Amino acid sequence: MMKFSIHTGDWKGMKSDLMVVFMQEGKLGVHSYTKMIDQKMVGEMSRRMRIEKFRGATGQKLLLQTHGKMNSSHILILGIGGAKKFTLEVLREGGGKVNRIAQDTHARSVGLVIGDISFNSYSISECVQSVVEGMILSSYEFTLYKKRDAKKSQILNLVIHGLQGSQNSSIQKGMRRAQVLSRGVALARDLVNAPANDCTPFDLAHHARSIKGVRTKIYQLPQIKKMKMGAFLGVAQGSVVPPAFIEMHYRPSGKAKSRVGIIGKGVTFDSGGLSLKPPKFMEKMKNDMAGAAAVIGLMSVIAQLKPKVEVWGLVAATENMPGGKAQRPGDVVRAMNGKTIEVLNTDAEGRLTLADALCYAAKKKPDYLIDLATLTGACLVALGEKITGMMGNNQELVKKLTESSIKTGEKIWELPLGEEYKDELKSPIADYKNIGGGYAGAIVAGLFLQEFVDGHPWVHLDIAGPSWTDKPGSYEVRGGTGVMVRTLADFLSRF
Ligand code: BES
Ligand code: ZN
Ligand code: ZN
Repeated sequence: MMKFSIHTGDWKGMKSDLMVVFMQEGKLGVHSYTKMIDQKMVGEMSRRMRIEKFRGATGQKLLLQTHGKMNSSHILILGIGGAKKFTLEVLREGGGKVNRIAQDTHARSVGLVIGDISFNSYSISECVQSVVEGMILSSYEFTLYKKRDAKKSQILNLVIHGLQGSQNSSIQKGMRRAQVLSRGVALARDLVNAPANDCTPFDLAHHARSIKGVRTKIYQLPQIKKMKMGAFLGVAQGSVVPPAFIEMHYRPSGKAKSRVGIIGKGVTFDSGGLSLKPPKFMEKMKNDMAGAAAVIGLMSVIAQLKPKVEVWGLVAATENMPGGKAQRPGDVVRAMNGKTIEVLNTDAEGRLTLADALCYAAKKKPDYLIDLATLTGACLVALGEKITGMMGNNQELVKKLTESSIKTGEKIWELPLGEEYKDELKSPIADYKNIGGGYAGAIVAGLFLQEFVDGHPWVHLDIAGPSWTDKPGSYEVRGGTGVMVRTLADFLSRF
């Protein structure tokens, strides 16, 4: 656990193993602290900058050993590029780098000088939040199955230098938000990284229930049957572990500014069912509950940040297995809203579970509905591993989510819900079939979901790509990423 504090007064008095200074491109000598460091280091800093052609470009870094000339044993100068191209993501990535260097130099305490750089229009609180987010998120490890001594060294203390006393409350706010958000992301990552034998629908329900500040209801099999969630039940029937329908409910203390339903795909393992996946495609399918994990992580965040909106977090949790009772290709199921679906491919199961969860959510008469799901391999083909696919029936909601995602650095890109592909879902014997002809798979899945939102403003986020990484960025680590926790928290905080 990292401890945070603020240092006021002369920054040169700050004691830490690693002192970090952010520097804008070409601004050497402009800021008092870089000048001072250079003086204290008897020109060593400017000398190294010349040799290494350090100008402060984004991602450029300079690590100096102080050999007793300063209070810290190491000084790290991190370039953040020119003011024009500056974004919060630059600082988040910077935070990730700080953490990695702290690990390499075995630094237990880090001192951060945010300084008098003009961070465009961003507030000091947002800037602090981003750096600290990057630091905590990159220090995440999934250690449940590892020996204690295998863990990496961690930063124990972080001291931030506040320029003026008046900034302290903003710095404090940024630190706290970063801490709360990173914990939510870590929870989502933990749930994704946990193998399916330790993350059953029951386990997900248990985690949802342990979140303080939200009201959680768990519906078990008899109640799910009573609610007539036939599409969800069709998926669940092939597994020996029982399904669970999870409802988490957050209410603000005052009058809610808005009412939002957030639904996460919670397939704790996707074998494909009788339309069985080949082994290679099945390896990572414990990740098929990443939407649910993000919703649970998000609820833990908003229980603490307390936005002014009412939120339902909903998950239809189940395995998708090919057991003796499994649904067969060609079976027809009836969703909660009475619509019938011909299940031609049991591997297109996410949309079946989501159909009933969306029906349930629509009954709450929400102002906005958002679902997030590891829904299609097609979205991975279209947008790759780093970008979330977005489809929706309401441009205002699309815009709001886009704005939040730009802030959080979690990229999303809108795909068109082309009406011209609706015919793909026509079944000769039921209202719909659960697959289309093969092209535009991500869009066809989105069109299918749209049939169950009862006309409410809705956005679907396909996180099949970015919910997992084998090529981690600056503040990611291999495995579950917890994608969309921060973006949705930002979206909810803006009401
Ligand atoms: N969970 C998968 C989608 C997926 C694939 C997520 C790869 C992450 C990585 C989903 O249930 C699925 O199997 N979808 C099928 C749909 C098809 C049968 C129409 C797919 O994308 O192949
Ligand atoms: Zn599937
Ligand atoms: Zn799936």
